[in-house]
Parts: sequence; structure tokens; C-alpha cells
Amino acid sequence: MKKIYTLGCLASLATLVSCSAFKISVPYEKEVHYVKLAKGQKKEDHEKFSKKISIVTQGSYASKAAYKVFKKGGNIIDAATTASFVLAVERPQSTGLGGGGFALYHDVKRNKDFPLTVDFREKAPLNAHEKMFLDDKGEVISRMSIDGIFSAGVPGMVAGMIELHEKHGKLPLGVVLKDAIDLARNGFKIYPELAYAISRRENIIKRYKATCEIFCNKKGEVLKEGDLLLQKDLAKTLEVISKKGRDGFYKGRIAKSLVKEHRRLNGLMTQADLDKYDVKYRSPIRGEYNGYEIFSMSPPSSGGVHIIQILNILRNDKLSTYGVQHSKTVHLRASAMQAAFSDRAKYLGDTDFTYVPVTGLTSQKYADDIRFSIPENKALNTLWSNMNDPFKFDAKNDSELVQKYESPETTHFTIADGEGNVFVSTQTLNGYLGSGVVVPGTGILLNNEMDDFATKPGANNLFGAVGGEKNLVEPEKRPLSSMSPTIVTKNGKAVLGLGSPSGTRILTCVVQTVMNYLDHKMPLYESIAATRVHHQWKPNILYVEESGLPARTIKELKRMEHEIKFKKLGCRVQAVSMEDGKLHGVSDPRGRGLVLGE
Ligand code: DON
Repeated sequence: MKKIYTLGCLASLATLVSCSAFKISVPYEKEVHYVKLAKGQKKEDHEKFSKKISIVTQGSYASKAAYKVFKKGGNIIDAATTASFVLAVERPQSTGLGGGGFALYHDVKRNKDFPLTVDFREKAPLNAHEKMFLDDKGEVISRMSIDGIFSAGVPGMVAGMIELHEKHGKLPLGVVLKDAIDLARNGFKIYPELAYAISRRENIIKRYKATCEIFCNKKGEVLKEGDLLLQKDLAKTLEVISKKGRDGFYKGRIAKSLVKEHRRLNGLMTQADLDKYDVKYRSPIRGEYNGYEIFSMSPPSSGGVHIIQILNILRNDKLSTYGVQHSKTVHLRASAMQAAFSDRAKYLGDTDFTYVPVTGLTSQKYADDIRFSIPENKALNTLWSNMNDPFKFDAKNDSELVQKYESPETTHFTIADGEGNVFVSTQTLNGYLGSGVVVPGTGILLNNEMDDFATKPGANNLFGAVGGEKNLVEPEKRPLSSMSPTIVTKNGKAVLGLGSPSGTRILTCVVQTVMNYLDHKMPLYESIAATRVHHQWKPNILYVEESGLPARTIKELKRMEHEIKFKKLGCRVQAVSMEDGKLHGVSDPRGRGLVLGE
């Protein structure tokens, strides 16, 4: 079947920039739609080939600072530590010292066949409890898990990155943190994404004096694009950390200020929470796929389990023979996502507190059973969804189960070197500017990661994700995440490192990129730029990015009774591939980003 369409929709790098110049005839199966580069972004900043190092972050200051540290003789952990702390200054809407995250580190010198897998996710305070977000009638108190002091978990970012640096870095911490300190002190001009996040959180910024001192001007109005963002207290905090390491944050003046602010606002965190914060070393979730090994984040993230589950469900379909945006490919990908998210709600939580059947969920036998129940030409309908629905939902119907607001904020970065080492990390405050609470005198913005818990069974969070019993709040528990830092290896050598922000969509964006690259053999840039879809079981909607899919695909998906909605998915995949001695760094064209390398 042939179809006429514009060159801008062809699977070739050059055509990503030149749309609509020519019309040629290609088979429907080969037609691929891509996003365009975001406004104001340059292609050369989003893709680079190199040999010794490749640094891919969502921040231009972060990539430059990390590269500088590498040039000073630092290794990739030094560069990663620099990137983390500069991102905390440069992207306060996404990440920060008051947040947490996950990292996977493929270290060629480490005598193990899987990457070091580090969990520095926030924890529920010791005084937290299952009903903390419910009123006397057992109803969820609106926005309590999103705004303000109760939404904040015990931060893990400083503990995680400092411990990694102490154990695996080469350069002194003072050198590694210098650019973050300078950037916080000297400031930078607010760019569009940050301006947007500030405008979305105007109310909460104005609610807290210390927050407004950073994000408002002298007249008390929130800062706008082009204004200078100064974070002088944060610079001082970073200086203390650069001298005292972890203790600079979890003990002494900074810790006291944090506890004092909780006390002032009747919050739950105490010094005991900070003393007990522990970085956890996990076994990654691992799966084999077409001769490659995939390693991704284990619980308390759901990311790795469902990435492997989706790959297992689809592995025997040979979707590359149909084409990446063929209706069969999209239908089966969406159905596998739907099944995975139904399991996410039922089975996933922090394995330190609850049993999660990881082996079963990632087994081929279970995936084959799911595949068997997916009709070839029909969407898994609401009946199927409801049969698999163990909860009584808060929402009266599916369409109420949408996100409370869109926040594509969180950040991911990938760094790889010519020796074969790869570091991938996703870090977050959760929603835009986290809880909105800045600890006075410290510049530290606290997260609102508590919203990733189920406020009650069946309730949905910021991203519309449904939470179950296993993800209820408990003291010291870590809320369920979707963050999916992922490393792909072949014969023990890393070939791809990647990850993304964007809530529940993280795992579906990562798995689609992996399939585009490994199955469909698309170059890395195209694997990332191709239109993505997302299905998360509830609501029963197939989301398609606005760059669209071939008209025939849409028509056939509708015929299969998929309810389609076009919308931005918010993912910003940051990836490096390593093949034939070449590093290929790509920062998602949908967002800001900078790839540096040599
Ligand atoms: O851990 C999670 O899955 C979420 N807290 C991540 C939040 C996020 O990605 C926000 N937007 N991009």
C-alpha cells in the first residue's frame, strides 16, 4: 500500500528539519511522524558524536559544568555529581537539594554483571501515617499531598549524590560543587520553562515568605522570563555541603532550619528523620531482550518492572516487520502499557514494606498470558479494565481520572565515557517547584513526593496514577515512582543509557525509545524524536503526541475502538548510545537540553 506524504515525515535525520519540501511515495509501513525541535533550540545542542565523554542533561549550565569537571581530570561520577547539583540550581522547578532520585551506574571496573543501583528517593517521615491526607469522613483532603509542608518527604538527593561521590569520585567535593555555588550566587536569566512553572505556582509561591523571597521581585510579583534568578542562601547551603559533605545538610544549621520550619507549620519532620535517612543499594530489574540485557530501576520505582513486562509482552510480535507507527504496533504497545498499569496499581509499592511479586510480573510466562488476552484488532475495553480493577474508584467515571495539572518537571541526565562507563540518573521534587515551601535561610525548596503515595486505595495522584494498598503511607516508606533510569548492555558492554522526566509517562517513553532503537533499528535521534503514545489503563484513553501518527494508523486505531486524545506527553528523553567505539548523545528535541562531548 503506497501513500503520498511530505518528506518531513520520513525516517531520516535531514528530513526532521525540512518539512513539506517534496512529496514522494513511500509505503504506509515506513511512514513515521516526528516532533520538531522546540522553539529557540539548536540541533547541534541536541545531538553530538564523541569518543571520550558524552554528557546529556536538560540544563546548559549543568552540561557545561560537568564537562569542565571532566576536563579537570574528573571521572563520570565527578561529572554526574556536578550535573546533579548544578541542575538543582538551574532547574528548581524540577529537582533540588530538597528532593530525591535514583541512579544506575555501569562501572567497567566493578566486578559484577549488573549496574550499581542507587535509591535516594524521599521517605515518609517517622510521624507520617496511612490516613494523614484524609478528613474525618475518610475523604481525601484536596491538595494536601501536593501543596505545603505535609506534601514533603524526607529529602534524599544530597545523601545519594554525596555518598556516590565519596565512594566513586576522584576530585575534591569543593571542586565538584564550585559551579553550582557560583550559579546560585551569581544567578541566571529565567528561561521559558522555568517562567511557566513559576507562573503555574504563583499562589503557593506567594503563600510562603521564604519562597517569595527567591521567586518574587521587590514588588512581590512572581519573576518572569528574562528576570535574574538569584539563590544566595542556596549558594551558602551548597558551600556548607562542599565542606562538610552529607552532615552539612542532615546535621547542624541547615538541618535545624528544616526541622524548625516543619515545627512552625505543624509539619511532621524531625531531626530523627534526617538522622535516619539512608541511601539504599538495590538489585536492578533486569530482562533479556533480543540479545540485549536491559537494566532498570527496581521498586520503589515501578519503572523497571513495567518496562521489562511490556518488552516481554511484545517480544514475539516482531513489530519491526510492520513499522514503528503501524496501527498493529501502536495497538499492541498501548495494550501492553494498559496491562502494565493495571498491575502497577495492584501490585507495586516499596519492597521494604510490602511484598511485590517482581519475579512473576517480569516473567515471560505471565507476559505470554497477558499477550494471549490482548485481541489482535480491538482495544482492551473498559469491561476488561474494570474486571482487572480491584478498587472502588473515587472518580465517578474514567474521564475524572486525569492529571490535576501537567508537570513535565523532574530531570534526567546521562553521562558516558570512552572506557565504557555509564551513569544514568533521574531526580525530582515531583510537581512544579515541589511543595512550594522553601526552608528559610537555606534556599532549599522541599519536594511534594508524598503525593506519589496512594492517599487512599484507588485514589489517583498528580499524574492520574491509581494507587493501591501496597502504596499507602507508612513511616519511613518510599512512595511509588515511575522514574526509570535504564542501561542496556550487550555481552556485558553498555550500549545505551537513557531516562526521562514526566511522571507515569516516563516508563512508557523509555520503553518506546528502547524498542525504536533495538527493534526498529532507528538511529538514536529518530528513536527519540518519533511521536510517542501513552496508555495508563485509567483513564481508558490512548494518548498520542500532537506530532501525530499516519492518518491510516489513526483510522484503524479508531476502528479498533481506541479512544484517542492528542496531547503533549512531557517526556524529555536524555540518552547516550555507545557502539563501535563511538558515543552518540541525544537530548530530546522536545525540550531544552545540551549535549557536550569530545
Ligand atoms: O517519581 C515519580 O514517578 C514522580 N514523582 C516523577 C515526577 C515527574 O516526573 C514530574 N514530571 N515530570
